Amino acid sequence: MAHKVFVTRKIPQEGIDMLTSKFDVSIWQSEYPPTKNEIIEMAADCQGLITLLSDPVDSELIAKLPNLRVIAQYAVGYDNIDVKEASKRGILITNTPGVLTETTADLTWALILATARRIAEADRYVRNGKWHVAWGPQLLLGIDIHGATLGIVGMGRIGQAVARRARGFDMRVLYHSRSRNDDVAAMENQMNLKPAKLETLLRESDIVSLHVPLTSETYHLIGKKEIEMMKQGAILINTSRGQVVNQEALVEALSTGKLGGAGIDVFREEPIKEDDPLLDLENVVLVPHIGSASRKTRTTMSVMCARNVIAALNNEKPPNIVNPEVF
Ligand code: DGY
Repeated sequence: MAHKVFVTRKIPQEGIDMLTSKFDVSIWQSEYPPTKNEIIEMAADCQGLITLLSDPVDSELIAKLPNLRVIAQYAVGYDNIDVKEASKRGILITNTPGVLTETTADLTWALILATARRIAEADRYVRNGKWHVAWGPQLLLGIDIHGATLGIVGMGRIGQAVARRARGFDMRVLYHSRSRNDDVAAMENQMNLKPAKLETLLRESDIVSLHVPLTSETYHLIGKKEIEMMKQGAILINTSRGQVVNQEALVEALSTGKLGGAGIDVFREEPIKEDDPLLDLENVVLVPHIGSASRKTRTTMSVMCARNVIAALNNEKPPNIVNPEVF
């Protein structure tokens, strides 16, 4: 009998076609995510599960799916999955690393440019009929990106891709990272890039961009104390995870002008609540967690997920395994 696979949202068809040619596949049809209980119900007798970062794959859910052999996350981050619990039960976890690196770095740069040059605010200004004077000598002044100092917190694949793009803007780049691998060392020789303590990076950067995974160590890595260390009028960009930043401290710093602006793709709560104070601020650019959202990348992610599930259910090592000790 064919193995059963449940996919918690409609992901691009390419991956689905690969799965349906081998397995009995069911797909959640609503654009709203299934609740934990709905996932448990839909995946009750499944061997494979494809999840999104908004799915709560906790110990309760895992315990209620006794036939599960693989959970394939449709994202690189997997902080929504209790990996320890899954490993204890012999369930393989996979993700989609690499493919979304450049796409997320592109989005990071879109936010850097939009925030520093107040693009979203300027667009609202024009659309809302406020543009009455042909050219304003002091209208919507932003900060220069070229020649500025960019601080990158987390120098993994995405952090490195963001740093590479800074070359075109003649920036000085500081980075803070747990590790310094050969690729990063080579980049240090090729461009104006240096390692720095977090405090130095925060004190010296005009723009700070976050690229760390969410873990117990990075939860609220940027809070009131860290924001106070930042330059007056500096810009914060977050395309990592919302909980890496203390959102209350961020809102306060943006309201008082301590921070000049923020470009945010990821939030404490997603979707953002209607009464979230971030929505009242002019100096923020807010996008709905679209770091990896290019057609090509999302399609490749679906193919990677399918390959991971197919390998796991064929008793082969999945190409993107997160908990290899279980295999
Ligand atoms: C990821 O893959 O973790 C990203 O946040 C998705 O855009």
